[in-house]
Amino acid sequence: LVLQYPAQTSFSGILTQEVQDPDMKPYGRTYIPSSYVKYIESGGGRVIPISSVEFLNGRCLCSLFDRLLLIGGTVDLQTSDFAHAAKIYFRLALKANDVGDYFPIWGTCLGFQLLTVLVAEENLLSKTPAENISLPLNFTSGGAASSRMFEAFPPELLTALSQEALAANFHHFGVTDQMFMRNEKLRSFFSVLSLNKAENGVVFVSTMEGRKYPFYGVQWHPEVNRFQWNPLYSFPHSRNAERMSSLLAEFFVNEGRRSSHHFIQAEEESKELIYNYNPLYVANFTSYEQIYFF
Ligand SMILES: *[C@@H]1O[C@H](CO)[C@@H](O)[C@H](O)[C@H]1NC(C)=O
Ligand SMILES: *[C@@H]1O[C@H](CO)[C@@H](O)[C@H](O)[C@H]1NC(C)=O
Ligand SMILES: *[C@@H]1O[C@H](CO)[C@@H](O)[C@H](O)[C@H]1NC(C)=O
Repeated sequence: LVLQYPAQTSFSGILTQEVQDPDMKPYGRTYIPSSYVKYIESGGGRVIPISSVEFLNGRCLCSLFDRLLLIGGTVDLQTSDFAHAAKIYFRLALKANDVGDYFPIWGTCLGFQLLTVLVAEENLLSKTPAENISLPLNFTSGGAASSRMFEAFPPELLTALSQEALAANFHHFGVTDQMFMRNEKLRSFFSVLSLNKAENGVVFVSTMEGRKYPFYGVQWHPEVNRFQWNPLYSFPHSRNAERMSSLLAEFFVNEGRRSSHHFIQAEEESKELIYNYNPLYVANFTSYEQIYFF
């Protein structure tokens, strides 16, 4: 007899980030672009926004969701509330995983960079500009083929990912492959699955996954392929781009199904879910279509 986790245990925490953009400030103190929420929902998960500010004031929903997503953005990797809250969750996640309580973390773009800072315990970023440019993933030998992240990808889709410009990059900084390989902590913690070349010719790590821990990082943005449409930006929407985005969302949601975290009462659960908030239409003053403000 195989016991299935009940569907209602599938919650993703998404840490909210301080608003930096002056145009967005009137609407809230922290935010989550809707594209990240839709990404999780499209993978079959439900979202709980975790306020980085409330969290630092002692409100911990720690045992109530079964995976954490760290979004992209612009805040400081060491001094922001976002970074402080992520650091505490990161440590809790290490401890949880160490005692067999499976707890995955996914970092996208700034979230990826934050994972490298948390593991290396120092900021190893340097200039790797790739702003508004989509690239094919340069898979490391054996990297994708033996990874968990790309395990469910059909071979022809992996080939497409390595040949077609499907991975949307929006960053100025990153971790170079040389820096990564020189740093013992990073090297022993993460396997590098793909590399890419920045506009200045420097090679940066674009995809990584934890060797032991279920922690995953993409310097690029798989959520934009299906959920961002601003014609001023390079958001690949080909069939292969959408399949790649779907499979990664499903992968991450599925990782959380292995967790045993859950709400004790349905009432408690309903109060925390993203459905208590309405996203705002922001396409006329940001590069996003919709944003949740808190
Ligand atoms: C692809 O990765 C290899 C190392 O695996 C590196 O030598 C090469 O420069 C990379 N090419 C690009 C275009 O990123
Ligand atoms: C982003 O890239 C696309 C595709 O290359 C290009 O058409 C567009 O002008 C760029 N947008 C900005 C704001 O640089
Ligand atoms: C953007 O559009 C919304 C809804 O149409 C409107 O309320 C808001 O004032 C607009 N914002 C700007 C900065 O144009």
